Amino acid sequence: MTILKTTKELNSWFIENSNGLAKNVGFVPTMGALHSGHGTLIERASKECDSVVVSVFVNPTQFNETTDFQSYPRTLEGDMLLAKDAGATVVFAPSPEDIYGLNVHAERVDYGPVTSTFEGRSRPGHFDGVISVVDKLFVAVKPQKAYFGSKDLQQVAVVERMSRERHPQIQIVSCDLIRDENGLALSSRNARLSSHGIALAQHISSELQASVSRVKKGLETAKSVEMAQYNLEKLGGLDLEYIGGVDKKTFAKSSADRGWTHIVVAARVEGVRLIDNIEL
Ligand code: PAF
Repeated sequence: MTILKTTKELNSWFIENSNGLAKNVGFVPTMGALHSGHGTLIERASKECDSVVVSVFVNPTQFNETTDFQSYPRTLEGDMLLAKDAGATVVFAPSPEDIYGLNVHAERVDYGPVTSTFEGRSRPGHFDGVISVVDKLFVAVKPQKAYFGSKDLQQVAVVERMSRERHPQIQIVSCDLIRDENGLALSSRNARLSSHGIALAQHISSELQASVSRVKKGLETAKSVEMAQYNLEKLGGLDLEYIGGVDKKTFAKSSADRGWTHIVVAARVEGVRLIDNIEL
């Protein structure tokens, strides 16, 4: 596995491997602090493509809180080991200057509800940063396929939209959300939780599971989501930001639950912001 730290080095790698590995590239964009959820994306990409480029870049423009950006875990050594074991060919770990030049800034993008509801509303500017960096990384990496985890369900919808407009030749592959043995959705942010925090955070997924079970037994989805909201709101130490039903493609807010494909949720535990979702 090769580690490349600039787009110039990445371009040289492409030229050197133009008749081989670089012909069919799978791309796994990450912000590092890799866990086994990322491992499954890399493994899938390595089965489906000739080579796999994993980017490790904590993107400053997608953080709407400076403290969140500063405290985001940075573990490049460990990331390289995990990426290598999972089958990565290249780890691309550029600096902000390399990606953005001197103007570390993301343009405002409005795709309607998909960028303005739920995550878009809770984290103003977040999707501008995601769109900007994924666009730039797609230009640098030139993949045939790009792999994203469906824990970030709204991000997948936003990236699909951006890619349809700007990179129609790239196939976006949405991969399963991976959970730990107690149901907690794997996230790089979990590393910042105490054992008490982890126990609290597990209520997020158990409430999602319970919502789906109630719906399967015949309760209206909206009512079931309301019950989950009530249960999460009364938990001390967990601050619920939102919970709601969505259509995973449009994210348009609607009170009728007929078009809903998923329930999405965001909450803070010990100051750590966590998101999760479940298919209905
Ligand atoms: O999902 C993430 O880790 C990030 O949002 C991404 C896609 C790597 C862009 O920085």
